[in-house]
Amino acid sequence: MLMQSALLALGATAVAALQPLEVDGNNFINPKTGNRFQIVGMAYQPGGSAGYDPKKKRDPLSDPDVCMRDAALLQILGVNAIRVYNLNPDLNHDECVSIFNAAGMYMLLDVNSPMPGEALTSFEVYKSYYASYLNRTFAVVEAFKDYPNTLAFFSGNEVIDKEETTEFVPSYVRAVTRDLKNYIKKHSKRAIPVGYSAADVRDVLWDTFNYFTCSLQGDKDDMSKGDLFALNSYSWCGDSSFTESSFDDLVEGFKSTPVPIFFSEFGCNTPSPRIFTEIGSIYGPDMHDVFAGGIVYEYTQEANNYGIVNMTEEGPATLMSDFYSLKEQYAKLDFSKLQSLKPTGSAPKPVSCSAKLITVDGFQSNFTLPVLPPGAAEIIEKGVSPKPKGKLVEITDWKVKFEVKNADGSVIKDLAVKPLADDEVNAPGSNSANLNAGSGSSGSGSSGSNSESSTNGDKENDAAGRGVGAVLALVMGVVAMVAAF
Ligand SMILES: *[C@@H]1O[C@H](CO)[C@@H](O)[C@H](O)[C@H]1NC(C)=O
Ligand SMILES: *[C@@H]1O[C@H](CO)[C@@H](O)[C@H](O)[C@H]1NC(C)=O
Ligand SMILES: *[C@@H]1O[C@H](CO)[C@@H](O)[C@H](O)[C@H]1NC(C)=O
Repeated sequence: MLMQSALLALGATAVAALQPLEVDGNNFINPKTGNRFQIVGMAYQPGGSAGYDPKKKRDPLSDPDVCMRDAALLQILGVNAIRVYNLNPDLNHDECVSIFNAAGMYMLLDVNSPMPGEALTSFEVYKSYYASYLNRTFAVVEAFKDYPNTLAFFSGNEVIDKEETTEFVPSYVRAVTRDLKNYIKKHSKRAIPVGYSAADVRDVLWDTFNYFTCSLQGDKDDMSKGDLFALNSYSWCGDSSFTESSFDDLVEGFKSTPVPIFFSEFGCNTPSPRIFTEIGSIYGPDMHDVFAGGIVYEYTQEANNYGIVNMTEEGPATLMSDFYSLKEQYAKLDFSKLQSLKPTGSAPKPVSCSAKLITVDGFQSNFTLPVLPPGAAEIIEKGVSPKPKGKLVEITDWKVKFEVKNADGSVIKDLAVKPLADDEVNAPGSNSANLNAGSGSSGSGSSGSNSESSTNGDKENDAAGRGVGAVLALVMGVVAMVAAF
């Protein structure tokens, strides 16, 4: 008996784990090496928002067989992080997280969902800020805070989605950021960064950035200041360039950022198939001093046509041509150099919050944040009850159970996750399963079907309201083109 439990305990400590990362100034840092971490990420929400279904007790990190399939494919691709939009804190995520951890991938997690009462709303935001909403966001923190590969939490995604929503939303998003940070400070062993994922509504982008990253005067702790700022941007389309895509304006605008900046979504899908030439710019000297990388939208093919893998409900899947194009672009990067960049100096201090920072008419310039709703202080004080709890577990079988085909119809043989060593982050080549790049001609679907409306209820095919950003980016792209002529 004794012997056996001693062995079990040993086994538990032998599970290889990624090094938890930290934010230092405007970088993600590996505290062991002092190196900056560049996010090479993938948006991961199989099934779209329907992949999160409280009635069916499922979310994207609850089915280990599916996670094994996807971690193997993402490992082959070369990504080192996933973004997951909609999670159910009451499900068990241990196996899936252990799989992604062993595959060398960090997780950036949204604490919200499209279900009623599970996110701040863009319209009449004050009606969506109450204790049981916050309780859910804290429960997501509880469920994931103990995993070493939890990299960050998003306090909101595109809640500011058009100019009209800038009047009241900013102070509420900043308040939720504050509440999450207070919760983490009180209940988590390590400081996990919290920040906002913004739609690239360029007109209000700089006010949004300043509103969330400025420092409240006289507030020593300043718990409401974002630890990072992330952008969902679709302005690089097709065979574009650093300047044509206006990514140069982003670098210029963010260059004195006090916090890490990265794309929380990118990958314009018009024209399609995609060629992903932005990878060279994002991870090259054009951008890597200012941007900590980015997250490609998105892994699975959904009705909005952004996928790189076409999966079936039952489990078998087929790679799409975009998968190979992206892989080819990653393969051109010098990953070991990219992941051993050092901070370029100390980060600029945050600017002081003041109405002077706000340049757009109608954008909230009041930095007095909403006070906690009734009942919430007690939850922060005592913790969520009952507390969901996550831990890494041992995985013994790394084989993928489902058949996965190349775009040309050939079956990928011996597909499996290759568990990496302690602290080893995934990179292209870690898992060199033989794909057959083939003709890559099975088409990635037609473009232009991203016609969802931007209303709150219509998120069937839309993980977290991201259709809005793409439509806006398209509109802005057209405006920019017209302006250029
Ligand atoms: C808070 O969250 C936990 C975990 O999801 C849940 O069990 C509990 O019912 C929630 N409490 C309230 C007051 O909403
Ligand atoms: C600023 O916002 C706070 C909290 O919402 C509110 O109490 C206050 O009246 C607002 N001040 C102005 C000048 O609008
Ligand atoms: C995805 O696979 C289904 C069959 O499972 C097929 O009907 C559909 O056309 C495929 N979609 C794309 C974009 O290849």
